Amino acid sequence: MKYDLIATSAMGLESIVAKEVRELGYECEVENSRITFKGDELAIARSNMWLRTADRVKIKAGEFKAYTFDELFEKTKAIPWEQFLPENAEFPVSGKSQKSKLFSVSDCQAIVKKAIVERLRSHYKKTSWFEENGPLFKVEVSLVKDVATLTIDTSGSGLHKRGYRVDQGEAPLKETLAAALVMLTNWTPERPFSDPFCGSGTIAIEAALIGQNIAPGFNREFVSESWDWIPSSVWDQARAEAEDLAKYDQPLDIVGSDIDHRMVKISEENAFEAGLGDLVSFKQMRVQDFNPKKDYGVIVSNPPYGERLGDRKAVEQMYKEMGKVLVPFDTWSVYIMTSNENFEKLYGKPATKKRKLFNGFIRTDYYQYWGKRPPRDNR
Ligand SMILES: C[S@@+](CC[C@H](N)C(=O)[O-])C[C@H]1O[C@@H](n2cnc3c(N)ncnc32)[C@H](O)[C@@H]1O
Repeated sequence: MKYDLIATSAMGLESIVAKEVRELGYECEVENSRITFKGDELAIARSNMWLRTADRVKIKAGEFKAYTFDELFEKTKAIPWEQFLPENAEFPVSGKSQKSKLFSVSDCQAIVKKAIVERLRSHYKKTSWFEENGPLFKVEVSLVKDVATLTIDTSGSGLHKRGYRVDQGEAPLKETLAAALVMLTNWTPERPFSDPFCGSGTIAIEAALIGQNIAPGFNREFVSESWDWIPSSVWDQARAEAEDLAKYDQPLDIVGSDIDHRMVKISEENAFEAGLGDLVSFKQMRVQDFNPKKDYGVIVSNPPYGERLGDRKAVEQMYKEMGKVLVPFDTWSVYIMTSNENFEKLYGKPATKKRKLFNGFIRTDYYQYWGKRPPRDNR
């Protein structure tokens, strides 16, 4: 059976998520914050297991125009919910509404819930209430410009939860965004990699997972694993594939460093939890002391932005010092994400390329400085 699937994406990362979906072998279409594709049960397992930059994978149960509550009710009831939801399903309904006649989210949720209950009642010939003590099917009704999209979440916790984060610093990067930052670079696993503001180690850990082609979801569970219509053999197959495709023998030279020794310890714990204990090394160091022994490396980093009152001056001074140290390493490519609009001036060099990205709600630029190409590199 083929399902309409949606990989949801943070704003600005859609093209990267789409590339990942295509690399899994599924044709897809890109819309605002969502990538749609068709696939079977294995596609659900694979996409959850492999998508590094998507937020969640959802099933699109139905999509239709709805201008009135009656329409919303009838069209929701017409969807064959029994194909997804067993008699004991727990099915909370959440909602959102943008630019639509039906703007009361709580009413829309209640109507969708009622319509699904009616549909299931007549299918399961039930006269009493559903106990809802079985597997979880999180339904969402999303209204955008009077189009209602009804989805069922297959992921459970968001896909950024890889299962390795035991601790974090003050401003940890979401794992999905960290992976995207690495995927936007010219890094290949043969080249040295460094994050000199590593915090809790997210970027370095994501780089190591990418470098060894380890599926980001390999060490976690997904809510759809408890659904009876996806046989456990499908999940076994997806995990076996992931195991086959991992390149555990790929050597890596990945270093994370931070001025704060507590961050170094947290990074080490997280990397250990990710099973990458020996592959990524962390040390206490100021960016001002960056002095790599090798050429043609790649820096991907998320320094402090200095957004808090009083921090800005110190951060700007640090950016200047950072430029003085990093610019002379002209074989290194440097990729820095910050919200500071004066970054290039402070760093002392215009970026090769910039890309607008959101870190949560903070608008940032991803400043990209391409280093000299390594000999025989065909980037
Ligand atoms: C925004 S956080 C990085 C968060 C990280 N990406 C994560 O996912 O946890 C910035 C980090 O830069 C570190 N830092 C600040 N000034 C530094 C400097 N001069 N040299 C090195 N690290 C510094 C801070 O200790 C902090 O951990």
